[in-house]
Amino acid sequence: MDYKYTSKSVDDTLELAQNIESEKFPGMVICLNGDLGSGKTVFVKGFARALGIEDNITSPTFTIVKEYTTGEADLYHMDVYRIDESQEFGVEDYFNKDGVCIIEWAELIEDRLPEERLDINIKIVDENTRILVFKPHGIKYEELCSAVL
Ligand SMILES: Nc1ncnc2c1ncn2[C@@H]1O[C@H](COP(=O)(O)OP(=O)(O)O)[C@@H](O)[C@H]1O
Ligand SMILES: [Mg+2]
Repeated sequence: MDYKYTSKSVDDTLELAQNIESEKFPGMVICLNGDLGSGKTVFVKGFARALGIEDNITSPTFTIVKEYTTGEADLYHMDVYRIDESQEFGVEDYFNKDGVCIIEWAELIEDRLPEERLDINIKIVDENTRILVFKPHGIKYEELCSAVL
């Protein structure tokens, strides 16, 4: 089952991410898709803040992944927009860790994603409105969505 959430502001998106964080579990994988400016990084900010991470979160476009280890759980924030297939970047290594992975532009590495994960597709409606469509893959993610949404 898919779930839909309409965000009417940046604060709505931050709060939604915080609510999902409250249901986190080790090895959680969240895949974010949506055009530039749809709010993928805003979502990561809300999640990171809820984990107690105080760093300023920005898209790790040139590094692929940023690791934050000062929160309640480790956070691996990836942006694979510029991933190069020839690059020996082991995304898979991160999926096997106990921390939480959040991947911007995850659809670009679809064939490398774990089967069990939460896909969130974000659509821009107007200046301040975004529609977020949640597609849980696997029982843990189904339960998470029904608890939060
Ligand atoms: N409801 C909303 N949720 C998230 N961001 C919003 C919303 N409305 C407007 N915005 C704006 O959209 C932009 C989203 O930027 P960002 O999170 O960096 O996008 P992305 O990482 O998807 O490229 C920000 O400038 C933010 O202020
Ligand atoms: Mg971004």
